[in-house]
Amino acid sequence: MISLQNDLILRTIQGEKTERYPVWIMRQAGRVLPEYRAIRNKLSGFKELVETPELAAEVTIQPVDILGVDAAIIFSDILVVPDAMGLSYDLIENEGPRFQKTIRSKEDLPLLSADIDVAERLSYVFEAIKCTKTGLAGRVPLIGFCGAPWTILCYVVEGKGSKTFSKVKKLIYTDPVLAHTLLDRITDVSIRYLNAQVSAGADIVQIFDSWAGILGPDEYREFGTKYVSRICTAVDRVPVTVFAKGAYYARKELAALDCQTIGLDWNMDIAESRSIIGNDKTIQGNLDPCVLYSDFKTIESRTRNLLKSFANQRHIANLGHGLYPDTDPEKVKCFIETVKEFTIH
Ligand code: CP3
Repeated sequence: MISLQNDLILRTIQGEKTERYPVWIMRQAGRVLPEYRAIRNKLSGFKELVETPELAAEVTIQPVDILGVDAAIIFSDILVVPDAMGLSYDLIENEGPRFQKTIRSKEDLPLLSADIDVAERLSYVFEAIKCTKTGLAGRVPLIGFCGAPWTILCYVVEGKGSKTFSKVKKLIYTDPVLAHTLLDRITDVSIRYLNAQVSAGADIVQIFDSWAGILGPDEYREFGTKYVSRICTAVDRVPVTVFAKGAYYARKELAALDCQTIGLDWNMDIAESRSIIGNDKTIQGNLDPCVLYSDFKTIESRTRNLLKSFANQRHIANLGHGLYPDTDPEKVKCFIETVKEFTIH
């Protein structure tokens, strides 16, 4: 095992006193860097990049070199899991992901199988993790990830992003048994997938529940946290982060999960969240990514205000959701530098 030169994020997660707050950014790989576009434009598309380990490793390391973040996140996508289970997706330029087939009834169940060889179907991700670890040579820890079962269910039922997600919500109200069967399968594969990422070298894993906010508390308990909880318990060799976007109503329950870090979006007040979550978890987030459209002075002062709201050590500075593609990389650097210059007294 290569020892880490910068383990600030791991020490923070363990609740140690640190000299400053660690910082990384959701969607730091890809999206804003011209260096990413240069590689991406030579290929047939996003999927080729995701499925070519050497190149996926290269774009994973770019933000470490260019932006100076305290952690890398493996370049991949949450949709590789349903892809491996049998539902293949395409990424449509300027539109987003699209599945050719969707799941709407019991007859569609064979389209999404948990009976798959994860090591083989997702070998390109594990190879990319190994390549990245070699390339990083211990500079910073590497974050692995998956989508939460609920968010993956949203995509396999809707077939693409949606404003209302009424098709997947219709499913939970008309055929909850089918919804649970699908969530169960996705959970099974996600556990095997995350554990294999850890075996390949991931130092931390994050579960992205991007569409948690479209459910209410009762539905999220039944179709959301129940499955996230199973994953947290089954992935026990590295710290786990749960980011349930929009689930402000579920913070108390998220705090009870067998995970080390809770990610917050910008709708959630830090002090209020800390009082709900308590002091036993690390909190990650939560600057509105749109703050990075403002001038440098405003970014500095808004970032410092965020850091001042961190009442104790267990905080990781991040945005409240992923970077938007049209953000100026210099503004991203300004956020990162401001965090790094802020000393904890
Ligand atoms: O954070 C990182 O930098 C690592 C890589 C990463 C990607 N997707 C790369 C990507 C991660 C962690 C994800 C997670 C992901 N993917 C989520 C959860 C996080 C969130 O934002 O809520 C979701 C919902 C997806 C699904 C997805 N993939 C969408 C909606 C899109 C299209 C729009 C977009 O750019 O986000 C993708 C494609 C995708 N995934 C791109 C990247 C860099 C754009 C690819 C390109 O055009 O080159």
